[in-house]
Amino acid sequence: DWTPESFVDSTVAELKAQLGDDRVILGLSGGVDSSVAAVLLHRAIGENLYCIFVDNGLLRKNEFESVLESYHGLGLNVKGVNSKDLFYKELEGKTDPEDKRKAIGKIFVDVFETESKLIENAKWLGQGTIYPDVIESVSVKGPSATIKSHHNVGGLPDYMKLKVVEPLNTLFKDEVRLVGKALNIPQEILGRHPFPGPGLGIRILGDVTAEKVEVLQEVDYIFIQGLKDHGLYDDVWQAGAMLLPVNSVGVMGDERTYEKVVALRAVSSLDGMTADWVHLPYEFLAEISNNIINRVKGVNRVVYDISSKPPATIEWE
Ligand code: XMP
Repeated sequence: DWTPESFVDSTVAELKAQLGDDRVILGLSGGVDSSVAAVLLHRAIGENLYCIFVDNGLLRKNEFESVLESYHGLGLNVKGVNSKDLFYKELEGKTDPEDKRKAIGKIFVDVFETESKLIENAKWLGQGTIYPDVIESVSVKGPSATIKSHHNVGGLPDYMKLKVVEPLNTLFKDEVRLVGKALNIPQEILGRHPFPGPGLGIRILGDVTAEKVEVLQEVDYIFIQGLKDHGLYDDVWQAGAMLLPVNSVGVMGDERTYEKVVALRAVSSLDGMTADWVHLPYEFLAEISNNIINRVKGVNRVVYDISSKPPATIEWE
């Protein structure tokens, strides 16, 4: 019978046998999957696991600092790399969703390559790929139709010459969380909603700038913190906000305003392949909407996304 404990024991043993004294490099994203993969590998090979956590400037508010701190708390050997400006530079003027994804993926690979060259004799690339990623990258990455290019699956160029080790690639998300629990990873990390690799870059529709990121971070923070404060966070599979490339007219005191619209999205799902919008309480939505409009400069209208997947996707880009 499969239990998280038996999975941990057998996987750690296999990893030890497979990796021996080899060095492994792993890119942490702050998400559940890469975190669990890292801790599992760390159990097996200890200090031979070198983790890299890149700040792409597209993370949630305070995320880089707080996540880095929890990784250190887990005993991981992790280097935080601030590459915000490289990402913003590459994104400048790009508005097409696929162009943006590719730009973000490209810089990620560049940064990762630069950083991994500093780690001598690394032989393996560790990845937190889970089973649905394997399925989705096969099904959506057909030759004719790329729905969305997920830059973190098979996204590294051949010349990196690293062998890939993916200890979670047979597991579904709920199993990954159980394994994480068996590894004593804090709930704060395990309970996190999924978050796309390209981050807020694909939640800012149109071109991405540091200023827009700051606006969306505030909006997202109010929404996510609100879900937590109201005990709704764990009832939702994933939630976030989109900054729309649209201004609308509003009124503040006696003044006419002409400012940005944000869309809130909260979905229930098992694996992200299909999803339903969550019927969040009206009172909650009213409170969040007020808080956003009152506190976030440059936003005067909030809408709630009531589309399911399919035909809509979870992310807007
Ligand atoms: P969609 O928008 O395709 O999203 O319905 C399904 C799930 O995948 C996440 N997502 C990504 N995750 N890299 C990721 O790691 C990506 O490029 C990416 N694009 C979408 C999305 O947040 C949702 O959980």
